[in-house]
Amino acid sequence: MQLYKIEKPFVFTVFGASGDLAKIKIFPTLYSLAAQKRFPADFKIYGYARTKKTDDQFRQEFKKSVLEKSEDEVDPKILNELLKHVHYFTGKYDQVESYEGFAKDILKKTGGKKCTNITYLAVPPKAFADIIQNLSSVKKHLGKDLRVVIEKPFGHDEASAKQLYHHVSSYFEDDKVFLLDHYLGKEAVQSLLTLRYANSILNTLLDGELIDNIQITASEDLSVAGRISYFDQVGIIKDMIQSHLLQLLSLLTMNLPVVQKASGIHREKISVLSALKYRGYENGLILGQHESYKDIDGVKKSSKTPTFAALRLFIDKQKWFGVPIYIRTGKMLNKKHTYVVVEFKKLPFQQKNKEIVTNKLIIELQPNEKIHLKLNTKVGGAQDEFHTLTTSESIACFGDDCLPEHGRLLLDVFKGDHSNFLTFEEIIATWTFTDKVLKTAEKRNFSIHQYKDYSEGPIEQKRLTELDGNCWESLQLDENES
Ligand code: BG6
Repeated sequence: MQLYKIEKPFVFTVFGASGDLAKIKIFPTLYSLAAQKRFPADFKIYGYARTKKTDDQFRQEFKKSVLEKSEDEVDPKILNELLKHVHYFTGKYDQVESYEGFAKDILKKTGGKKCTNITYLAVPPKAFADIIQNLSSVKKHLGKDLRVVIEKPFGHDEASAKQLYHHVSSYFEDDKVFLLDHYLGKEAVQSLLTLRYANSILNTLLDGELIDNIQITASEDLSVAGRISYFDQVGIIKDMIQSHLLQLLSLLTMNLPVVQKASGIHREKISVLSALKYRGYENGLILGQHESYKDIDGVKKSSKTPTFAALRLFIDKQKWFGVPIYIRTGKMLNKKHTYVVVEFKKLPFQQKNKEIVTNKLIIELQPNEKIHLKLNTKVGGAQDEFHTLTTSESIACFGDDCLPEHGRLLLDVFKGDHSNFLTFEEIIATWTFTDKVLKTAEKRNFSIHQYKDYSEGPIEQKRLTELDGNCWESLQLDENES
């Protein structure tokens, strides 16, 4: 199979080159792309940050992060070759002079040759506005093809997301801006659409008429201690549900556009995301906080920041009318496990007293990437009893072109394909929804239930599914595979 290769010369700049996102995700991803021989002969990678550093010092940091964080084995020859293309620029984020100096440095190193300029904002959100404005002022030097990648969070509520939108769009055309949610780069998340497009039976089954409920679980076993100044401000709903999990939901429930193109995908996603409804029932939102949260340095003893949330919502569209959707996510739980469960209705004439469990389609996103279908069959012989059989298949990437999530998304940036990126319209719709949920919780002073560290979360979460006579599917994690 022919691997996609970037043909045109490029300059790729990481703003915030001294930060964790750059070191943990971006540098190892650039190595993976180089190892798969996707880069042209002529390219430059720049780190841009405030700390004074030489090219050589930066190359050592880059090398260290690739060696420590790469998912694949690192070939020293490829890494050393890549490092020859790596440079560093010391600059301020809020001073236009720094950007002018930076543009001159690029022009000097590229000899003024035309190339694609990609800038990746791996900086805290408060730096976005300055970088966007100052970058746009050096467009005349860097050429028309200046693309900007911004990673979530996009604002912290509807108003701030709108403000960010106005700011970004006053300096850059939409097609030059790539709004990145790393969940959309995950293999299994990308498979959702592929599975739907490629399998009419599967896609036909994704219809509210046939479905009893949908569940999305994203449990994490990590503490947020290392990022507490951010997390304590936002809490789990803004951190996980507003973007990652609602994006997942939209890919599962949207109508398929006939042509799998960015414009159609965005149109259909927005149609679902703008129809999300939270009915505000008691027990329709269960919040929790893990027991050692208040012991984290920087957290007040009075903190009400939720580290767990289970939310019941609906999609206000004919196709999904009355189908409850349950989303739950939390930190410091017993395992890292992300999966989606589609539970089908029983047939109308199925006898209530027969122990036939409902059919389920389960898509496991991480750490294993698998699809499972739960069916029922009769126990052999004369017995009138059923047992459930589960057929499971891996949907993990195999072959030579597998990439970490940021790798897949970066390739799309090079291709200019926005299908796996967000639009501000989607972002604003999800903020409208989450703002409403959070306001209701605050106004009604919803309880924050404490749960034990490394447990399954607050036991009260079962009240949420019980509203509809359902229960959470606790999928067992196959530890041998992860
Ligand atoms: C980030 C959140 O966006 O996603 C983190 O800020 C969370 O709190 C992370 O841990 C989860 O990503 P993943 O890929 O590990 O599921």
